[in-house]
Amino acid sequence: MEPAATPVRFPEGFVWGAATAAYQIEGAAHDDGRGPSIWDTFCRTPGKVHAGHTGDVACDHYHRYPDDVALMAELGLHAYRFSVAWPRIQPDGSGPVNPRGLDFYDRLVDELRGRDIDPIITLYHWDLPQTLEDRGGWTNRETAERFADYAAAVYGRLGDRVTTWTTLNEPWCSAYLGYGNGVHAPGRQDPAATFAAVHHLLLAHGLGAAALRAAGATTVGITLNPAAVFPADPESPTDAQAVRLVDGLHNRIFFDPLLRGQYPADVLEHVARFTDLGYLRAGDEKLIGAPIDLLGVNYYAPTYVAARPGAAGGGGAYPGTEGIEFLPPVGPLTDMGWMIEPGGLTALLERISNDYPGVPMIVTENGAAFDDKFHRDAPGTDGRVHDADRVSYLDGHLRAAHEAIARGVDLRGYLVWSLLDNFEWAEGYRKRFGIIYVDYLTQRRVPKDSARWYQEVIHRNGL
Ligand code: FCB
Repeated sequence: MEPAATPVRFPEGFVWGAATAAYQIEGAAHDDGRGPSIWDTFCRTPGKVHAGHTGDVACDHYHRYPDDVALMAELGLHAYRFSVAWPRIQPDGSGPVNPRGLDFYDRLVDELRGRDIDPIITLYHWDLPQTLEDRGGWTNRETAERFADYAAAVYGRLGDRVTTWTTLNEPWCSAYLGYGNGVHAPGRQDPAATFAAVHHLLLAHGLGAAALRAAGATTVGITLNPAAVFPADPESPTDAQAVRLVDGLHNRIFFDPLLRGQYPADVLEHVARFTDLGYLRAGDEKLIGAPIDLLGVNYYAPTYVAARPGAAGGGGAYPGTEGIEFLPPVGPLTDMGWMIEPGGLTALLERISNDYPGVPMIVTENGAAFDDKFHRDAPGTDGRVHDADRVSYLDGHLRAAHEAIARGVDLRGYLVWSLLDNFEWAEGYRKRFGIIYVDYLTQRRVPKDSARWYQEVIHRNGL
């Protein structure tokens, strides 16, 4: 697909950036007092992560961050979204902070600011300290309380130089993939645990946001990965019901408490098939629903569902959806096997803006894995990475984001996933999402064609 030629301009002040996450890029798993996280454990559990890959070394960003920040500056990024590793700050997930862990982020923030790049912090991108998991992890209310202590500790060190704070990345994945279908750490498969985890993650957001505000934070938000879910047959009333249930389990279970201060009744009724809801206490919803300043939206691909008697449903990732078929993706696909449908992003942003008005949004992740080739020394190659399919993906999605703005959505920025090729969770290093290629043998960075293209986009503030 050739990028469409029509020029588009983004609003003045639109924020352009890139995103990463601690466990996916840092490496240095044992440096400076870092404790083990659930991902360290999961990677060592046979059969869980492709080829037994681990984040022990990853992109070695912990040691190479000055070079990586220099690359960001070269591309002209306005902002860089990264996550702080809780097990570096509190190796056991509670108690005294480890100053050497904070020192790393202190250096990183100074490096970024020295190059005029705005740091956007995610406090939790899935690397729960293992000690907390041993006490129940996100099924235990105490984890949410410990998260608030941790958030305050990080703010205490970096709050004078970091303006934008997000509590969690994609709590849907933490709960439904971590405790539901077990594809992510900690690898549990229990619907009751899944819904307890949803609630305690939301509570962690609420308590964490309150702690950040009490310490002086002014821009506080959360990043979700809402599903753009569509019916297989737009005319079918039963497909519409299927959409409603999947939307409830994936989207409204987060959006409603966060932005309306209340779980949706139909979703609670469904959840009550699996749990007595004993984890839900008076006052929790109010805490979770305290106003936020910014909503991060991660979007990759749409979901299509149909009502089909006898269909298996979405398994642990969508408890209780038997009788619903999740349609197989239709090509062209990315290397993850995900559909490429930019219109899904426009529809999603518009829907959020209509149903939950008043919260500015930022695309905190969007991008694609493709099987990039880099053979510097191979005959016939030129030492570059020609990722035309990624350029086309990004071009299409930026046009879709622009279309949402044209339709009135308050979208403030776009952060590409990802700056670097990195550890793609259960897929290990075999999926490459970076606009910068990483040669894992040498740790050499090679900006792909998409990086050069993105540099131009930023420079022009448009396409
Ligand atoms: C998102 C995650 C991110 C990355 C991308 C591909 O769900 O937040 O860490 O793995 O998917």
